[in-house]
Amino acid sequence: MYYPEELVEEIRSRNDVVDVIGSYVKLQKKGSNYMACCPFHNEKTPSFSVSASKQMYHCFGCGVGGNVFTFLMEYENYSFVEALKTLAERAGVNLPEMEYSDEAKKAADLKSRLLAIYKEAAKYYFYQLKSERGAAALQYLKGRALTDDTIKHFGLGFSNKFPDDLYKYLKNLGYEDEILRQSGLVTMEESKGVYDKFWNRVMFPIMDANHKVIAFGGRVMGQGEPKYLNSPETAIFDKSRNLYGLNFARSSRKDYFLLCEGYMDVIALHQAGITNAVASLGTAFTPQHARLLARYTKEVALTYDSDGAGVKAALRAIPILKEAGIRAKIVRMTPYKDPDEFIKALGPEEYQRRINEAQNSFFFEIEVLEREFDLKDPEQKTRFFNEMAKKLLVFSEELERNNYIEALAEKYMISFDNLRKLVNRYGAQM
Ligand code: CTP
Ligand code: MN
Repeated sequence: MYYPEELVEEIRSRNDVVDVIGSYVKLQKKGSNYMACCPFHNEKTPSFSVSASKQMYHCFGCGVGGNVFTFLMEYENYSFVEALKTLAERAGVNLPEMEYSDEAKKAADLKSRLLAIYKEAAKYYFYQLKSERGAAALQYLKGRALTDDTIKHFGLGFSNKFPDDLYKYLKNLGYEDEILRQSGLVTMEESKGVYDKFWNRVMFPIMDANHKVIAFGGRVMGQGEPKYLNSPETAIFDKSRNLYGLNFARSSRKDYFLLCEGYMDVIALHQAGITNAVASLGTAFTPQHARLLARYTKEVALTYDSDGAGVKAALRAIPILKEAGIRAKIVRMTPYKDPDEFIKALGPEEYQRRINEAQNSFFFEIEVLEREFDLKDPEQKTRFFNEMAKKLLVFSEELERNNYIEALAEKYMISFDNLRKLVNRYGAQM
């Protein structure tokens, strides 16, 4: 969508840069400017300056600078249009609607109605959790060490024990059967009647990058199958294009993201102050996920479960990330299974240490490969070196490849020249 320059200018002029930035960082008046510690790099003495007369900001420490739009784009990781919309809303300026075709209008209308329903459902589940009927569910979440603040932050809820409770509630709000059926929150079958999809479960609202609820995951309390039940795909929910926690992680202002497996992992990490964690939603990590992440970061620390399935999932995610231009490293969580358990046992500082020590993804792949061979057996050792040499071909740049050859040659006590010869032999065959 193209917005006319006069409109952009009007929105800019109606959002004073000092007010907007002042709502994010503490500004102090110094002469005709305002100063603060720079939100874009670490510092103890303020070198970030905001000028009311120029309507610009600039940091003398790290060199960032710009206007009210670029500030939101940098700080919130917004696109220009997102920044524009936010500031338009803030100033009460109406943005013109796009010129839609009839079909596009219908689709947009369906989406906005579904979003409204999901919002109502999320409020309802949250309310249930806090009501008497939700006592056991609240107990369950508390038992998993979640605080009231965390429960509120993630909007956790409870779908109670009646089979058509949400359905009735939404009907009362005036929604018709057809749209409720399309929402996937209720199922309607001639033989069985109308049922809520979620029933006696702790509810995890899944939000898109702009904090809009687009689906739910529901967990049984304690044992039971299936452990998680997820919303079906709808006009607003495509599970291979959304990541749990992204709405918060996108403004975490870290230069890498953590990628984990579960809702509870994301929540435990955020609660511990590690707010750059996201998870794929009960599905394998997809190229669409990777492209989504690539908008926000160039590096991902994988913190998948340390069991066999987690290792496999990590090995699959690495090339997908790489394809999207994202470097991957692997966080070692042994002896714990997942970030949730790890944090509970050893705390956030120890976890941060593990992140800092995260392993280069290529070394991780080689280490997993190594486990298939008995290196004391010369025949197997030879095969291992051959497999390793083949893998080294992923580095097309000679210097980089040589650096890896050097590191692995040293680790596995083979000479650099011998390993390089082997690599080149496979290279020549390609
Ligand atoms: N998942 C799912 N359906 C299941 C099991 C798992 O969709 N039947 C998805 C959920 O998104 C879940 C993730 O896979 O968060 C990881 O599963 P798991 O490790 O079993 O769950 P945790 O998130 O660790 O949850 P908990 O700690 O409550 O067991
Ligand atoms: Mn878990």
